[in-house]
Amino acid sequence: MDDVDLNRDLLRNMLEDDYLIEIAEDGEKALEKLREYTDRIAAVLLDLQMPNKDGFAVIREMKKSGMLQKIPVLIVSSEHAIEVESQCLALGAADFIHKPFESSIVQNRIRNTIELFNGKNRLEQKVEEQEEALRKQDRIIQLQAEKLQEAEPFNRLMMEYRAAIMGVENRLRVLNEEFSLEYNRNPFESIKSRLKTPASIYEKMSRKGYPVTVESIRENLKDVAGVRVICSFPDDIYQLAELLVKQDNITLLGRKDYIKSPKTNGYRSLHLILNVPIFLSNEKKYMKVEVQFRTIAMDFWASLEHKLKYKKDIDNAEEIVGLLKNCADSIVMLDYQMQEIRDKIESSKENKRREI
Ligand code: GTP
Ligand code: MG
Repeated sequence: MDDVDLNRDLLRNMLEDDYLIEIAEDGEKALEKLREYTDRIAAVLLDLQMPNKDGFAVIREMKKSGMLQKIPVLIVSSEHAIEVESQCLALGAADFIHKPFESSIVQNRIRNTIELFNGKNRLEQKVEEQEEALRKQDRIIQLQAEKLQEAEPFNRLMMEYRAAIMGVENRLRVLNEEFSLEYNRNPFESIKSRLKTPASIYEKMSRKGYPVTVESIRENLKDVAGVRVICSFPDDIYQLAELLVKQDNITLLGRKDYIKSPKTNGYRSLHLILNVPIFLSNEKKYMKVEVQFRTIAMDFWASLEHKLKYKKDIDNAEEIVGLLKNCADSIVMLDYQMQEIRDKIESSKENKRREI
């Protein structure tokens, strides 16, 4: 797109062996051709000074209509001012070719630009296809989850897990009551329990290749029933866990101590998988419950860190991972310092009592 015959002829000679060439002598005509051939244009060579709409106007309109995402624009100009070049690039031009032209440079620049652009477009298309596939998968999971919820045995299973959560919560609350009476302190601050959603159950079962049946869920999933115990101090965690596990009718199926061996991201919690009984109208059944113990500060950290996993398109993810790791390290120090202070307070109280 150039208003000077000579320039157009020069460029045509350089390029016509490799490309089909369309010509426009001013901005208006350029836009007309662009609209007509949008999907067939590999690249645009655009002069800046032209009658009826200059090159800037053309590129602005291309941007507005979305064409600039599909077609790379190379500015061809005798303009040597850096500001003009950078203005063009800022507007979205792919490259800048200075007049007078040198045939091999022009050819190479155009070829490179087209290849780069095609590569980028292919990648974008792939990402789009993958996103669509994920959305489809999500819809399937939702549909299957709805089906699950209609099935009576599944609802019964969920009822049983709720009963198991109540049982574990109850045992913990009793311990809290006893401690506050005997030692005037609470070994935990709060309990948060959750039942895995049908969609999440379905997703995990199919991801792990298990059949989605009530028996198979019961057998293979350990975290349908989840109880999270938030403690004030690290040593409360171990004391409470120990007291719980040694109670009657509880079997420890698994134990992961991410406090002694933190994950590389900084995650610290104690995880127990328990088998606990529930008492129904005419049977006693054992159910698996995942119990996570962590301090208040660790819980605060984990809920923030959890957000990172569900956020796509975070461009500073690496930085955030580093920041989170630093926070986790500070939290451990604080947790143990607070514990030391508590111990000092306790022992001075103890001394006073003895003196009396
Ligand atoms: P899942 O399949 O995720 O249940 O993992 P897993 O079976 O290997 O068990 P693990 O004990 O490692 O984790 C169980 C649960 O602990 C997870 O579902 C999360 O709720 C929590 N968890 C584990 N690791 C992390 C972590 O790095 N960050 C956060 N925020 N939570 C975690
Ligand atoms: Mg889990």
